[in-house]
Amino acid sequence: MTALRSIDVSKVFEDGFTALSGINLSVEPGEFVTLLGPSGCGKTTLLKIFAGFYAPTTGRIEQNGADVTNAPPEKRDTAMCFQSYALFPHLSVAENVEFGPKQNKVPKDDRVKRVNELLRQVDLEANRDKLPNKLSGGQQQRVALTRALAMRPSVVLFDEPLSNLDAKLREQVRREIRSLQREFGFTAIYVTHDQSEALAMSDRVVVMNGGKVEQIGDPEEVYQRPETAFVADFIGSANLLPFERVDDHTVDTPLGRFTVDDPPVADSRFLCWRPEAADYGVSEGENVVASDISERAYQGAYTDVHIAVPGAPDQRLHWPGSASSMSDRVTFRLPPDRIRFVRGELG
Ligand SMILES: Nc1ncnc2c1ncn2[C@@H]1O[C@H](COP(=O)(O)OP(=O)(O)OP(=O)(O)O)[C@@H](O)[C@H]1O
Ligand SMILES: [Mg+2]
Repeated sequence: MTALRSIDVSKVFEDGFTALSGINLSVEPGEFVTLLGPSGCGKTTLLKIFAGFYAPTTGRIEQNGADVTNAPPEKRDTAMCFQSYALFPHLSVAENVEFGPKQNKVPKDDRVKRVNELLRQVDLEANRDKLPNKLSGGQQQRVALTRALAMRPSVVLFDEPLSNLDAKLREQVRREIRSLQREFGFTAIYVTHDQSEALAMSDRVVVMNGGKVEQIGDPEEVYQRPETAFVADFIGSANLLPFERVDDHTVDTPLGRFTVDDPPVADSRFLCWRPEAADYGVSEGENVVASDISERAYQGAYTDVHIAVPGAPDQRLHWPGSASSMSDRVTFRLPPDRIRFVRGELG
């Protein structure tokens, strides 16, 4: 049975703005699913519909097979964890964590046990009597997380919980969230607009754009096999080229003729390849490109190289060496299995 499911959900706000349309998503028990997409694409709106803060305009929400479309938040087995930690400023850390179970009339002994256990797990025991404003951002975020978990919800809905933290701390807290999730076994729906966070944390990624789902897949699928130009471009960097089909496994592009493993289909609009897909060990034969370099930027692990080809704007390569070891031209081969075709428009 699916833990949480949306069926043909749409949301039109009072001012007539359509924030979501045709959202179909099934989340399995214990799964970690992220909603990924640019600002304004409807991530928070969908999460609030799952939580019961908004009613969908059309469609249905099911939890464990039961229709909860019109159930208020407290009647759903979900907890929400926000970007702004929303902690009670006048309550101590321990009191913040105990608040929900107390509201729910969980017996005192059980409550105290839960709070102690959770604070130990996120390494906040030493801070249990402090007020939230005496904590760092990362510590406050941990309190917010433990406060959600203290309710023992079967689903936790996260809305960009790490966006106020610096890069190092983000990575640490995201590993903690993942390990707590494995330990407690809750189902997680996690909103982010950070693609690396989504790829690192998720069992499945739901890529959203303009209130619609563009693609759902595991991290490798959405990265290696994007279905649309939007997904290719939003996750990682992608080179997109117009093409003309010669036969099922041959296409012409401004970069030259390519042999491909997966043929383009009727609605394919662009040939897509990743900057790291280029192979520098081959200098002649099929799928080999030689081009002038227009720009280069040293990135440490690789050099970001732009090549200038008429009709093929802004194609880039990751050259696995330092900028100084390059000449003014580059020769590379695009392996047929690293070439994809995507549909849709460019952003
Ligand atoms: N109450 C409202 N009334 C009208 N429009 C709204 C309302 N709430 C949100 N919107 C609009 O709906 C769209 C989706 O908003 P939402 O908050 O879901 O985006 P988001 O994907 O979470 O973006 P962000 O990454 O910036 O948080 C936006 O264009 C927003 O302006
Ligand atoms: Mg949002």
